[in-house]
Amino acid sequence: MRTTIDTYKSRAGRLNLEGIDFADFQAHPLSPNALRSLRYMHDIEHHTVCYLRDLLLTPAHQDPVITSFLSCWVFEEMWHGEAIGRVLEAHGEEAGMPRIAALRHGRRRREAVTTLSTIATAAFSGRAFIALHMAWGAVNEWTTQAGYARLSETADHPTLRELLRRIMKQEGGHIDFYASEATRRLRGSAKAQRLTRLALTHLWRPVGSGVMPKREVGFLVNYLFSGEKGRQILERIDRQVDRLPGQEDLHLLTRAVARVSGA
Ligand SMILES: [Fe+2]
Ligand SMILES: [Fe+2]
Repeated sequence: MRTTIDTYKSRAGRLNLEGIDFADFQAHPLSPNALRSLRYMHDIEHHTVCYLRDLLLTPAHQDPVITSFLSCWVFEEMWHGEAIGRVLEAHGEEAGMPRIAALRHGRRRREAVTTLSTIATAAFSGRAFIALHMAWGAVNEWTTQAGYARLSETADHPTLRELLRRIMKQEGGHIDFYASEATRRLRGSAKAQRLTRLALTHLWRPVGSGVMPKREVGFLVNYLFSGEKGRQILERIDRQVDRLPGQEDLHLLTRAVARVSGA
């Protein structure tokens, strides 16, 4: 039977953009709010490599299954950022290298703090850190995929819908890996369960919170996850988190989003 990593590696690759008509956005532009969401998503997809830098300083780099996954994962996320960048460019906006360089330049000091705290957590927790990393990744990927799905629905733009459908399919591959690895590693370790529960409860924030300005995090969370529909999505992800060993009843998403949106 193929392992999760073999299955993922056999499917991983550059996002297929064949048939995506980016010029369509010039004729039929997106709303200002949809564009604002895509700027955020562009920046976060491109930030994946910085997250990877921190992870490789932890025990995660000693596990070849994890490093194989991360190698393909960062490649796929980079192409998600590139594809979204083309949507921004079709609207006459700057994207890609100049935008990313400016973002990173403004984040140097905060980045150093994030890197040091990741290393400290990993040093304190040893191999249990990998289980936490896998659970954290699963939560981030569940949230990201749900965010794309909600944007696709809200923007109601056929070309964007097709592009996001293809991105979401790859996010699904990331979810499968992170969630199955998290489940397996948490099941075998009470220490990993405790560490993960502690970290998710006290440290987890919506994807991009440590990178993007607070007002942009608040905007995105309200735009994508407010109202009855938003609540249902958050509760669904909370139930997925509940199913990870030792992570029951965290109400992680509903609580985190309520904090960000000031509810
Ligand atoms: Fe992505
Ligand atoms: Fe992803």
